[in-house]
Amino acid sequence: MPRIIVAIDGYSSCGKSSTAKLVAKQLNYPYIDTGAMYRAVTLYFIQNHISLTNPKEVEQTLAGLQISFRRHAELGRNDTYLNGMNVEDEIRKMYVSERVSEVSAIPEVRHALVAQQQRMGRSRGIVMDGRDIGTVVFPEAELKIFMTANPLIRAQRRQQELMEKGELVGLEQIMENLQMRDHIDTHRSESPLRQAEDAVFIDNSMMTLDEQVELVVRLADEQIALK
Ligand code: DC
Repeated sequence: MPRIIVAIDGYSSCGKSSTAKLVAKQLNYPYIDTGAMYRAVTLYFIQNHISLTNPKEVEQTLAGLQISFRRHAELGRNDTYLNGMNVEDEIRKMYVSERVSEVSAIPEVRHALVAQQQRMGRSRGIVMDGRDIGTVVFPEAELKIFMTANPLIRAQRRQQELMEKGELVGLEQIMENLQMRDHIDTHRSESPLRQAEDAVFIDNSMMTLDEQVELVVRLADEQIALK
């Protein structure tokens, strides 16, 4: 069976990861959450007080970082590891969300992570989500999706996610964080978030998760059949 690359980009907390994870499961492909990689780098920079304005220090730090994913089938989780430590829960916390856009706008950070993402997709047959997958990481991806949802719905979904992890955060603070991240993600000079010309646009405000997954899997099957 031919293997394709499915690139899912879009704004923060618009359901990309939930959709991508289930699409990957149905296609029997690995799933890579590139936001988790930027979050892991951010966590390390915060914990080790790395100066974001010193490109040399940033580059040296990145060279010593190892980010990987491990599937825990028994828990139904795909966890992020940083230098061998499970950081999945820590990277989702609000203090990391508040710094992640700033860190991911640093060109040295993007170059290092994009190169790693391209290596991960070398053998194709992968579902990857993020902000620049269809535009920069895999501009040749057979299927590109650009997702969005209305801001209030995105904030409510994020609040629910945080609540499930025991972190209670007000809707207003979440909306402010999403707005700030949207602004930085779309305005940074290095690979800003934008819709690829050949991406399929999906506004999922009124769609269930099952409907989104069904739609993306159908589009992927169409691409596989064309190969
Ligand atoms: O998908 P997420 O909200 O977990 O992503 C966290 C941040 O990482 C997001 O605000 C922007 C950045 N990011 C990026 O710049 N490029 C990607 N491919 C993925 C995420």
